[in-house]
Amino acid sequence: VKRVLTGIKPTGVPHLGNVLGAILPAVELAQRSDHESFLFIADLHSLTVRPDPEALRAQTRAVAASWLACGLDPERVVFYRQSDVPEIPKLSWILSCSMPLGLLNRAHSFKDALAKGATADEVNVGLYAYPVLMAADILAFDADLVPVGKDQKQHLEITQEAARRFNLRYGEVFKVPDAVVDADVMTIPGLDGRKMSKSYDNTLVVFDDEKTMWKRIKSVATDSTPYGEPLSTEDDVLFQLTCAIQPDRRPSLARQYTTGRKNPELSGPERDESANYFGWGDAKKALLQAAVERFAEARERYRHWTTHPDELEDCLRHGAEKARHFARAVLDRVEASLGLSWI
Ligand code: TRP
Repeated sequence: VKRVLTGIKPTGVPHLGNVLGAILPAVELAQRSDHESFLFIADLHSLTVRPDPEALRAQTRAVAASWLACGLDPERVVFYRQSDVPEIPKLSWILSCSMPLGLLNRAHSFKDALAKGATADEVNVGLYAYPVLMAADILAFDADLVPVGKDQKQHLEITQEAARRFNLRYGEVFKVPDAVVDADVMTIPGLDGRKMSKSYDNTLVVFDDEKTMWKRIKSVATDSTPYGEPLSTEDDVLFQLTCAIQPDRRPSLARQYTTGRKNPELSGPERDESANYFGWGDAKKALLQAAVERFAEARERYRHWTTHPDELEDCLRHGAEKARHFARAVLDRVEASLGLSWI
């Protein structure tokens, strides 16, 4: 059984790209019996950007609710909030004492901040030590595999290096994890055709209410094909998004596009009633309908978790108890090897 671990930054309600590209695949992996999954919300990492406290609370809840809504089973998966596991920051300190400055000086996140002109007074130590905390997240649980995006590859290398260095000095204490850098995950286009990303303000959030989703979808720019004429599926985000959400819908939707008719069987030169026309407005409705249908249960569950924050809290606390049990065993090993404990 492989132990898989990954951390999620609490950056707010995940959008469709996050849901299809990251959450659902991870939830699926977690269901496999040859895997044992650890998933946590990396709220301590968020502190490096000094978020507004209310926003951090709300975003942590939104992220937790979304994962649970997407089918994460907290009985099967160890699902917790990083800050509920004090063994992690403790290990972080221990690791920092064998982490060479040179290694952290080369870390992208810190280097990027400096490159953008931040002075030493503006960069906080937390940002600098970010990779150490991440190493602690991983090493505290003897993780075998850590699925991450390309941007996190270097952090994983630092983790491996930290584990090796520690082991060299104190014996085989840590398990050296492998990174699983996701091979081009499905990139979901945003509403403006660029990659879907919060920073482009082109997202579709399937946990929003229908009205909000409709407003977003309605804003998609379309060409001026006359009503009833064939629509082009090429480079059309409405088509791509609807198909990404409901792959089975592709053939029938493609027919609607190429015929310009809602029900192509009814069409023909002699039966050309405009009620059967399929135009951009209908393509937009198709997208909304696809999102609402496919995520009906998830939306229901999301609403439940966000309106019952106490239950959500209980769920995370329970997860943290399980997590601490594992982390404690690793810390016992670490502390014994260092001479911190007397056993
Ligand atoms: N740094 C990761 C990110 O920005 C989140 C993260 C924190 C993480 N700790 C982790 C990912 C441990 C994998 C393992 O996405």
